[in-house]
Amino acid sequence: MIPEKLTLHNFMSYQSPDSLDFSSFNIACLAGENGVGKSSLLEAISWALWGKSRAGADDDLVNQNANEMWVDFVFRIDKNLYKVLRKRKKGKRGHSELYLYSYHRKTSGYHSLSQDTIASTQNKIEELIRTPYRIFTNSAYLRQGKADEFFTKTAAERKEILSEILDLELYENLSKKAREKAKSAKTQSESVKIQIEELKLELSKEDEIRNQYHKIKNTIRQVSDKLLIQEKKLKNLQLKISQKDSFDQKKANLQNTLDEIVIKGKKLRIEKQQSDDEINEIQRLIKNEKKILIGFDNLKRLEKQDQELNDKQIKVLELNKKTAVLEAAKDKIEKQIGRITQISKCPTCLRSLPKNEAKIIISSLKKEIDQDVLLKLNKIHQLIKKINYNSLEHQRIKNQIEELQIFQDQRNLLDRNKAVLLEKIKLAEKYTAEIKILKTEYLVKNQELKNIDKEIKQLLPYQIQFEKQKSESENLQNQMSSEKENLGMIIQQQNQIANFKKKMVGKKDELKKTYTDAEIYLELAEHFSKKGLQARILENAIPEIENQANQILEKLTQGAMQISLVTQRLKKAQKPDQNLIETLDIQIKDSLGLRKYEMFSGGEAFRVNFALRIALSKFLAQKVGAKLQFLAIDEGFGTQDDRGKTQLVEAINSISRDFEKIIVITHIQELKDSFGTRIDVTKDENGSQIKMVY
Ligand SMILES: Nc1ncnc2c1ncn2[C@@H]1O[C@H](COP(=O)(O)OP(=O)(O)OP(=O)(O)O)[C@@H](O)[C@H]1O
Ligand SMILES: [Mg+2]
Repeated sequence: MIPEKLTLHNFMSYQSPDSLDFSSFNIACLAGENGVGKSSLLEAISWALWGKSRAGADDDLVNQNANEMWVDFVFRIDKNLYKVLRKRKKGKRGHSELYLYSYHRKTSGYHSLSQDTIASTQNKIEELIRTPYRIFTNSAYLRQGKADEFFTKTAAERKEILSEILDLELYENLSKKAREKAKSAKTQSESVKIQIEELKLELSKEDEIRNQYHKIKNTIRQVSDKLLIQEKKLKNLQLKISQKDSFDQKKANLQNTLDEIVIKGKKLRIEKQQSDDEINEIQRLIKNEKKILIGFDNLKRLEKQDQELNDKQIKVLELNKKTAVLEAAKDKIEKQIGRITQISKCPTCLRSLPKNEAKIIISSLKKEIDQDVLLKLNKIHQLIKKINYNSLEHQRIKNQIEELQIFQDQRNLLDRNKAVLLEKIKLAEKYTAEIKILKTEYLVKNQELKNIDKEIKQLLPYQIQFEKQKSESENLQNQMSSEKENLGMIIQQQNQIANFKKKMVGKKDELKKTYTDAEIYLELAEHFSKKGLQARILENAIPEIENQANQILEKLTQGAMQISLVTQRLKKAQKPDQNLIETLDIQIKDSLGLRKYEMFSGGEAFRVNFALRIALSKFLAQKVGAKLQFLAIDEGFGTQDDRGKTQLVEAINSISRDFEKIIVITHIQELKDSFGTRIDVTKDENGSQIKMVY
């Protein structure tokens, strides 16, 4: 960490002073009278970076005229610029703020690196500067009146601080990690051992599994043989059953045929019966032929008579009609005669008719009746008489015809059937023959049916046998599939055994590896332990620090004083494996020899402290990865006489190249120009002020 710029606001005695710019100098002297605010500037830096200072509480740092303050501190690590801004508002509801930024050259601006909480932002800052506050105050920052801080610590604390400066914690952590890894490798090896034992247990079943496998295979073979035999048997039985089936089919067909024969027979018998009936009827007719023929002849004769009578009847009717006409003419003339006798006028021309004339007319009319009408009537009567038509007779004949009409039908029937009788007789014979054939056929088929029944009866036991064999076969198949299932399981177990064997090889390798790992990690733990690498680093560093300190001390005392650092001391109550105590003792000697620290004067003690602190700081600044290349010495001259002061100034100037920045604080007027740059600090009514004097 190299300071670049410090800006304060209401920090202790400061209100709003100019910023302190570190960039222009390597070594500077902060000069000013007592109480002007010199130490406050270093307190501001440590408060900004670690939040720690000489004050018990942050609120004590806030300028008494104000309620809040902040410190803005810009610093460099390697080539990167960072800025910390820490704020504090005091009071009951006071609170703190902390921000971290990094400077980006590309954008010429600060980017926030602040975290969610103050604690995590603080961690981030300490990760960057990699120097804890304790190290800062025990090495590079020689606080006013606390220059002996390192010296007055206990030997064990000193050892701890030195270890921190040397980053021994890193190795301690590595040692711890290696020990943990060794432990986990050991735990792992224990668990692998258990796994190996478990695998062994599984593998011990291998022989039994193999035996079971062979046993099942054997059973499968036997069942398979049995199944083959069974299958043959079933095939034969199947043949018999199919024979029976075909017989059953035949039987059904025969039964159908027989049923058909019976139906056909019945039909034929009915038809034959009808034919017989018809023949009988015809024969009965033929038997009555004579009677029918006589009846028929009589009928024909009567019909002829009827016909003649019909003709006569028509003629008589016609004559009767004529008679009626003549009677009517006669009536008419008679009526005329009657009228003429009663009247005097001509009934036709209405002229007066004389009696004689009337007589003449009447006589002509009478004549007309006699000669014309009566004559005709007479002739007609004679004709009717001659025709001699008798209606009763006619009716009697008609009645007879009706009675004899049946002979007409019988005659027709006779004529018709006489012709077909032969055919009918032939048909009847055909029916008889057919019935006979059917009967024979029926008998034959029935016999066949009986024969088939016999066959079926003989084949019936095979069906039962087949069912029995089939169920046996099914049992065997069930046994087979269960054995196959068992075989599958056994094969699975065998595969598992093969897997276990593979696993076993892997586990043995793993065990070997965990053993080796445990050994390696144990070795590493030892290597990085306090007794190992850490001790060696200390052994190497201590003479160097001692040497550095003695070089400075030589300049300050002209070789009169020397220190030596002792790291290990035998413990009084020895334990077999813990016979060394980790300490850092400092021995001081001068020309008189070794003396206790307290026995040296204030001025002498300061020189020793100064030399040792510079040596530690130089070591810290040179250390690989060290980030603190800054030295601050606050009031170191107070205890020194004039010569001492000169020697101290020289000593400080001589180490200026070992640090990027050195700040020397003094209130002694004659020393203010002893270093490269002078910064005057004053205080007035506006608080403390900073002024750079080149
Ligand atoms: N909260 C505060 N508000 C205002 N002034 C304060 C506050 N705390 C301390 N002071 C004063 O600030 C002044 C500066 O103190 P500082 O320790 O920086 O002095 P100095 O310059 O180092 O003096 P010296 O030469 O005596 O060491 C002192 O007068 C001190 O009493
Ligand atoms: Mg001071």
